[in-house]
Amino acid sequence: MLYDNHGREMTYLRLAVTDRCNLRCFYCMPEEGIHYLPEKQLLTWEEMLRIVQQLYALGLKKIRLTGGEPLLRSGIIEFLEELSRLDGLEICLTSNGVLLEKHIPKLLDLGVRSVNLSLDSLDRDRFRQITRRDDFEVVYSAMLALIHAQFQVKINAVVMEGKNEQDILPLVRLTDKFPISVRFIEEMPFNGSGKEAPKLTWDFIKILEHIRSHYGALTPLASHYGETSTRYQISGYKGDVGVIAAFSRTFCGTCNRIRLTAMGEVKTCLYDDGVFNMKAFLRNGASDQEIRQTFLALFGNRPKDGFEAEKNRKGIINESMTTIGG
Ligand code: GTP
Ligand code: 5AD
Ligand code: SF4
Repeated sequence: MLYDNHGREMTYLRLAVTDRCNLRCFYCMPEEGIHYLPEKQLLTWEEMLRIVQQLYALGLKKIRLTGGEPLLRSGIIEFLEELSRLDGLEICLTSNGVLLEKHIPKLLDLGVRSVNLSLDSLDRDRFRQITRRDDFEVVYSAMLALIHAQFQVKINAVVMEGKNEQDILPLVRLTDKFPISVRFIEEMPFNGSGKEAPKLTWDFIKILEHIRSHYGALTPLASHYGETSTRYQISGYKGDVGVIAAFSRTFCGTCNRIRLTAMGEVKTCLYDDGVFNMKAFLRNGASDQEIRQTFLALFGNRPKDGFEAEKNRKGIINESMTTIGG
């Protein structure tokens, strides 16, 4: 089993399979996009599989494919087929939903049961302003199809001053009708623009106050180990509502996440710049055992609280969430 030097079980891999995206959410990328990496600088599917297999040998329990938009990279279904052979591994996807609907039957077939869907607005115009693309109907339809197919669905909505505060309550209302989680996320400074991120106005406290001012007391729900959100239920509603205090609070204490970026950098924390180039290591002929030993060594030297270190960082974060994978 892979533990870090603070006794945290490292059993969850977030794998960014591409840095490309078909939306341009302004909190993630500038309008012109970012400078995408040439294909050969990305990990190949074979390389990704090899890394996953070594982590599986070290006790990996859950993998989340992210991006960019993971469904944009061709070969993903074949990759999922390979992953589905790893007995007991929970396979999850974070997607913007644009290309999702047609893949739903196959995803079900392959044992994917959980999809986190980015959806910041239920209003077509606001959706277009935020994502700079006119794909609201397609994404909403994918959401309904996922619910219909009984996926565990979590909606991710980044809350932004002047952009989508009006959407908080309509998004909460989705949980009346549907057994889904709607999670409101604090905006983090990973917008790839090289500019200072706006000051955080909608922190988790303000979001919860806003919801309570309309619904009264919310019933807190238990969270599982390493969970990013704090979830609540409105009495009689089928789903639940959560907040992800991604920027104002730390959940480092129970962080069980290993991150691998699209270019093959291992991150032991969302906020580090990548602590090891696994792609180069593989391409220089590393053996399976060396891969495992490297993970053991990297996580044997992990900061206790990466977020605390981040707060003391000087300067602006240039990275885009699309290369990190969230
Ligand atoms: P599950 O718990 O597996 O559903 O995943 P998740 O909530 O971590 O995944 P998702 O990809 O849906 O990400 C939701 C939000 O949480 C995104 O904005 C992520 O960037 C953010 N997030 C995920 N992990 C961390 C973390 O370790 N620290 C911080 N600050 N934010 C995170
Ligand atoms: N701040 C907070 N969340 C972000 N995401 C992307 N960029 C940011 C940011 N700057 C979220 C998306 C997606 C998830 C993987 O990360 O909403 O659902
Ligand atoms: Fe694409 Fe997700 Fe970034 Fe939006 S937040 S541009 S959907 S990677």
